[in-house]
Amino acid sequence: MDLTSIPRRKYTYGATPIEYLKNLSKLLNGPDIFIKRDDHLGLAGGGNKTRKLEFLVADALKNNADTLITCGAVQSNHCRLTLSAAKKEQLDCHLVLEERVPNSYNPKANGNNFLYNLLNAASKTVVPGGSDMVREMEKLAKKVEAEGKKPYIIPMGGSNEIGAIGYVACAEEINSQLRESSIDIDYIITPTGSAGTHAGLLTGMAESSHNIPIVGISVNNEKSVQEENVYRLVEKTSDYLNIKNRIEKSSVKIFDDYIGPGYSLSTDGMIEAVKLLSQREGILLDPVYTGKTMAGLIDLIRQGYFKKGEKVLFMHTGGSPALFNYSSLFQ
Ligand SMILES: Cc1ncc(COP(=O)(O)O)c(C=O)c1O
Repeated sequence: MDLTSIPRRKYTYGATPIEYLKNLSKLLNGPDIFIKRDDHLGLAGGGNKTRKLEFLVADALKNNADTLITCGAVQSNHCRLTLSAAKKEQLDCHLVLEERVPNSYNPKANGNNFLYNLLNAASKTVVPGGSDMVREMEKLAKKVEAEGKKPYIIPMGGSNEIGAIGYVACAEEINSQLRESSIDIDYIITPTGSAGTHAGLLTGMAESSHNIPIVGISVNNEKSVQEENVYRLVEKTSDYLNIKNRIEKSSVKIFDDYIGPGYSLSTDGMIEAVKLLSQREGILLDPVYTGKTMAGLIDLIRQGYFKKGEKVLFMHTGGSPALFNYSSLFQ
């Protein structure tokens, strides 16, 4: 697929590596596990939002915006990376932060919150969990406009049809890496939250001859809600890109068994996964997304869903800066 006509900023040079996790594969005695190191993407601290922001910020600049407004949870990787892109492009950046866990906002917290302060957000507005985030951002945009600025709103997680193109491009990148290295991957496993990563990968894979099945591990929503969110975004992204090959809704495969008590709340499986990856492979995961997704992969291997002789590619979508806010869980 030719994406070259779509405005894009470039925040990473070259492809992120695909590595074989030899020690973990041996320990679990199941499929061969590979990892796509999107934690090595550009901007402050890396992670999946960098790919989405290449297209979103290019669209903001095309629209002559001088200010970005976005939203996320109180420890949002997306907010950190949007701020980082804004600084690189010399744009203002305002954040609306949702306290999804009551009283979870602490202005002195470490992790991404510390980085919001270091990167110097123009403002942080904290709202209660369940707030209408679109309305909150629109309210802020009106205020910014009244000050003579031109705001551009980036949705939660950068997940609209423009942001998802980042992961359409990533699917192409993966396919070309696999062709070059002659590795046949049977499944890709990814965290799925605001849905852009999962939807972009599905859209991009449907356009390729590989068409590797994607398994999403939900970090927030129950299965039926998340399947609908991902499918709707695949449709919107395909429309935007004029793609004729449409996926069936049944190819949106999601497990919601690894959320535990709720978004960002700890589970035993997540703690085991974060420790295993750091101590067996020297790789840092995060407690909210990749830790729970790795917990899902480990459990699905133990249950026999992924089998010996198969090859699985785990999407490391980043997030490790958040670890520093959760250190007490790992003592
Ligand atoms: C580190 C990390 N991984 C995965 C995700 C989920 O990706 P998406 O929101 O595209 O579903 C996020 C979202 O914030 C994230 O920060």
